[in-house]
Amino acid sequence: MKKALVVGGSNGMGLAVTSTLIGRGYQVIVLDRNEGDLDKLNEGSYTYTYCDLLDFNEELFNDLSLDKDIEVLFISAGVGRIADFKAHHIAEIDKMFTIDTTSALKILRIFYDRIMARDTFYTGVMGSISGWMSSPAASVYAGAKAGLVRTIESINIELESEGTANRILDVSPASFKGSKFNGGVNDLTATTPLAEEIIEHLMNQDTLFIPQYEETFKGVLERYHNDPHEYGLHSYQYKKDSGRMDNGKKVIIGYLAGTFDLFHVGHLNILRRAKQHCDYLIVGVHDSGAWKGKETFIPLDERKAIVASCKYVDKVVDSCREDSDAWDLYHYDRLFVGSDYKGTERFNRYEEYFKDKDVEIVYFPYTQGTSSTRIRDAIISKTK
Ligand code: CTP
Repeated sequence: MKKALVVGGSNGMGLAVTSTLIGRGYQVIVLDRNEGDLDKLNEGSYTYTYCDLLDFNEELFNDLSLDKDIEVLFISAGVGRIADFKAHHIAEIDKMFTIDTTSALKILRIFYDRIMARDTFYTGVMGSISGWMSSPAASVYAGAKAGLVRTIESINIELESEGTANRILDVSPASFKGSKFNGGVNDLTATTPLAEEIIEHLMNQDTLFIPQYEETFKGVLERYHNDPHEYGLHSYQYKKDSGRMDNGKKVIIGYLAGTFDLFHVGHLNILRRAKQHCDYLIVGVHDSGAWKGKETFIPLDERKAIVASCKYVDKVVDSCREDSDAWDLYHYDRLFVGSDYKGTERFNRYEEYFKDKDVEIVYFPYTQGTSSTRIRDAIISKTK
């Protein structure tokens, strides 16, 4: 059975590409953060696996690259927005470059033996026309896509020199209807005609497909190359006038406080879950466990350094006595804690306090079988 792998295949153009590949007889493996609108497709013609490009799962892609039945790789996952640079939080810069550029290139690198081989292997990636020129009011998105499309352009020359006929197709459209990108909904009738064209170019081993190139974008790119400054000014005004700019706050800030003595897997689990529920995770570390009536083994600075080195943590701070005081400093949107705190006097108080502040308190299941107290007790009883 010939197989195709579509990364980001549950929504938007990815969903249409998945559907089109199914129509061409492929069994499609869809990797995505959620199942999106996959239920619109024929059950049994695809499989779904969870994958978050912000938390790159190298092993998953390594395993898939060894599956010789896979002969198509299409990367459709991407994030972006139309907004002034000043409206971007640093977490958004990180997110866009990680998803749109770094993770996409890592996948290509992992599959590169397959792409370089003599056997036919079809590879396609969703770039963006904004990656081919300056895009004021979408600067970060355009920068991330520019990194992607320029790298692919270079790799294709290397592939030619390797002597293989395989190429990586860069699909670089302008905005299109039928995706959730600009607050729309998935609409396969709107996206499928373009997906059909994409698959045609993919099967031809083309290197670049800019939809509506002759009619529109040839001229646009020429204007940009002739006078980037003049073009930029015009393009900025055009975006402003189109009403598509959204300079509002877009990131979800999360906050989690703890003692983190003798860092253990319960800590790791809660930090990972917390990061899955926000874009920027701030962790407050208590100076001691004294207020819980507990002693700490590891000094505060060391506990902070250990927590800071965890890949799910964006920023470590000294915790406040109360999480509500920390809100005055960081204005977080979500407060995370283990389920062992649910119903305690302290969290009942916070539930009340945050009621009118648009802050959600999220309780995660406490990891059974481990805690700093258990480890401390085990060490003490061993050393006695
Ligand atoms: N936590 C968890 N699962 C565990 C231990 C801790 O989910 N097995 C969560 C706690 O609920 C808290 C966060 O991790 O939200 C920080 O924990 P910390 O205060 O360091 O808790 P413990 O390891 O339980 O420490 P102690 O035994 O000293 O109370």
